[in-house]
Amino acid sequence: VGEARMKRIASSIRAIPDFPKPGVTFQDITTLLLDPMAFRDTVDLFVESYVPGRSKICGVEARGFIFGPPIALAIGAKFVPLRKPKKLPGDVISEEYSLEYGTDKIEMHVGAVQPNDRAIIIDDLIATGGTLCAAIKLIERVGAEVIECACVIELPELKPLEANSQITNLRTDFSN
Ligand code: PRP
Repeated sequence: VGEARMKRIASSIRAIPDFPKPGVTFQDITTLLLDPMAFRDTVDLFVESYVPGRSKICGVEARGFIFGPPIALAIGAKFVPLRKPKKLPGDVISEEYSLEYGTDKIEMHVGAVQPNDRAIIIDDLIATGGTLCAAIKLIERVGAEVIECACVIELPELKPLEANSQITNLRTDFSN
């Protein structure tokens, strides 16, 4: 049964060559969202591995906002959005990270994650790992523990774990 679910999910993810630039193949999860069974199975695969209650689900903008909330609701956890800069209205803490050219930042509301919280970070995809690494640092800075980083897809050729020693507990369901 697990195998059938994995196959259905994998085949619902669309690969778009040369997007957003030549040489890059974009892993498009919007086609997965158009297949309600594949979407449900994707969420269930994560939910089944988590102990209900207590953990916080932290979703990375933008596609961590698609997969994070249904997982949070299913396990009875609180959902915390990790946002791009200047989107959150309250006091924030932020963490900068490097891109191929320049830097980017993610922000979290002060108080959204508390010391001793056990957090799970959710995103659709890990490529270089820079975004997840910044998310981990943000959560650890407030004294919480990241028990898992969970992504639907990994691009292993970018070797995200070699470059980011903070990512110690990564779970991905699909390699591309
Ligand atoms: C993508 C993806 C991850 C991040 C992974 O988001 O959804 O959040 O890149 O890349 P990394 O491992 O190299 O850091 P993107 O930056 O395209 O933002 P978006 O979801 O707002 O479109």
